[in-house]
Amino acid sequence: MSGTFKENDLVLLVYDKKRRWIKKITDKAFHTNYGHVNLMELIGLPLGSSLQTNKGKWIKATLPTLLDWFDFFEHKSQIIYAKDAAMISLLLDAKPGDKIYEAGTGSGALTSLLARAVGDSGSIVTHENRDDAQKVAIKNVEKLGLTNIEFISCNVIEDGFAEGEADSIILDMGDPWLAIPRVMDILKIGGRIVLFIPTFQQLEKAHDALEENQFKGIRTIELIEREIQMKKHAYRPSTRMIGHTGYLMSATYHPLVKDKEIVD
Ligand SMILES: C[S@@+](CC[C@H](N)C(=O)[O-])C[C@H]1O[C@@H](n2cnc3c(N)ncnc32)[C@H](O)[C@@H]1O
Repeated sequence: MSGTFKENDLVLLVYDKKRRWIKKITDKAFHTNYGHVNLMELIGLPLGSSLQTNKGKWIKATLPTLLDWFDFFEHKSQIIYAKDAAMISLLLDAKPGDKIYEAGTGSGALTSLLARAVGDSGSIVTHENRDDAQKVAIKNVEKLGLTNIEFISCNVIEDGFAEGEADSIILDMGDPWLAIPRVMDILKIGGRIVLFIPTFQQLEKAHDALEENQFKGIRTIELIEREIQMKKHAYRPSTRMIGHTGYLMSATYHPLVKDKEIVD
């Protein structure tokens, strides 16, 4: 029946906000500091059900979303924030069938979101110059069962991108402006580019590089995320928030159009 747990489902187990695990439903007992549970007891129960441990504590079970998975991704560098990843997908106009190029891969979090957006008829070609980061990303992505991702090990500034034609490209890497001359080898005319840029100083370099290389409609935005505390009689913004992460610069590759013809 849909809406219930099945054997081998990967489930998100929640004791409280901090103590959460993703486990497969098998006949192996799952041990925690709060006692152990038999995950097989979930089979046939509605999603969101709870199991009682042998110490009398309750653990809630549900299916993890991609956003939940990001909390469990191993990473060697800063993982992209969800607010930025979601907007990057829109700015790239990611859709089923697209072939999206990416540098760098990092933990593979953004790669996973984009791989889901392009679907089985599309693909992500992701480039990373650190072998340890690439290994971790491959491991992370395998857990999600995504198979439409090609991992390329290279320095895109020195070696360029893998051969092919990209519908769009995302650069979330150090010195992304240095990779822009290489982007023209693979990005189709009319293709979108997005750069994730942490500091003001870097914005100018990236903007100049895009202009020099015939990108048009250059825009830069910053997204601020503020959670609302949902406490009875105290519904208000939380005192803590995600402050600065980075700027999103986007543009379209329009090499054949003269500047005057474009209204940016
Ligand atoms: C901030 S992380 C990317 C995070 C990623 N978007 C995620 O969701 O986890 C930047 C990555 O770019 C890689 N990188 C930096 N310069 C590079 C280059 N020239 N070529 C390829 N990868 C590069 C770094 O090794 C690092 O793993």
